[in-house]
Amino acid sequence: MTVHIGAEPGQIAECVLMPGDPLRAQWAAETFLENAECVNRVRGMLGFTGTWKGNRVTIHGSGMGMPSLSIYANELIRDYGARTLIRIGSCGAMQDRIAVRDVIVAMTASTLSTPSRGFFREVNFAPCADYGLLRAAVAAAEARGTPVHVGGIYSSDVFYDERPDLTEMMTRHGVLGVEMEAAELYTVAARHGARALAVLTVSDHLLTHEALPSDQRERSFGDMVEIALEAAFG
Ligand code: ADE
Repeated sequence: MTVHIGAEPGQIAECVLMPGDPLRAQWAAETFLENAECVNRVRGMLGFTGTWKGNRVTIHGSGMGMPSLSIYANELIRDYGARTLIRIGSCGAMQDRIAVRDVIVAMTASTLSTPSRGFFREVNFAPCADYGLLRAAVAAAEARGTPVHVGGIYSSDVFYDERPDLTEMMTRHGVLGVEMEAAELYTVAARHGARALAVLTVSDHLLTHEALPSDQRERSFGDMVEIALEAAFG
C-alpha cells in the first residue's frame, strides 16, 4: 500500500491506462478487461487490474490536473513497478482542421508550469512521448479508420482560462489541443525510465465552440481505450 493506492504488492500490472475519471476507469475495466478486480478505492480513486487478450493491464484514474496525476503516476511507477503508462482522456481542439470526436496523439506538451517546475528550476524540460507507443497508437487508430492527429498539445493548469490570448498563441504555434495532465505524465515517466503516451479524444473545440454530445462521449472513450490497448500490446 502507498499513501494514495491501497493495492497489495503485485496487484498493479506493468501497463497502466489512466483516464482522469475513476468511473471511466471502472467502465473501461468492466467493458474491455477479463477478470477485472478492483485494486484501489482510496479517496474514491478507482483502479482495476485484469487481462486484455491475455495481457495483464491496470486501468487506474488519475484525477484532474497535473498535481493529481503526479501523485498516482509516481506511486504506480516507483512503488508498484508500472513501466508503461497511457493517459486516455479528452481535450479541447485548437486547430480548424481538427473535428470533435477526432483523436489526438500527443508527441509533446507545452505548459506554463508543471509540478516538476520547482525541481527543474531554470531548465525548460521538453516532455516527450515514447516513440514506439506513439507509432503503435497512430497505426491502431488508422487501422480502425479513426481520424487521428499527431503533434504537440498544451497541458493547462486551469479549465476556466482567463487568458484568451494564450489560446490564440497556442493555435498560431500549431498546438493541436488543450488538456490538463499529459506534460507531467511524460515528465514523471522520463524521470523513472518508464514509457508514456497520451491518447485524447476531442470533446470540445476552442475555435468553433462545438462540444461532443454526451451520448457520443462513451463511444469515443471506448475507441480510445482500444487504441491504447492495441498500442501497448499490439
Ligand atoms: N479537457 C477537455 N476539454 C478541455 C479544455 N477545453 N480545456 C482543458 N482541458 C480540457
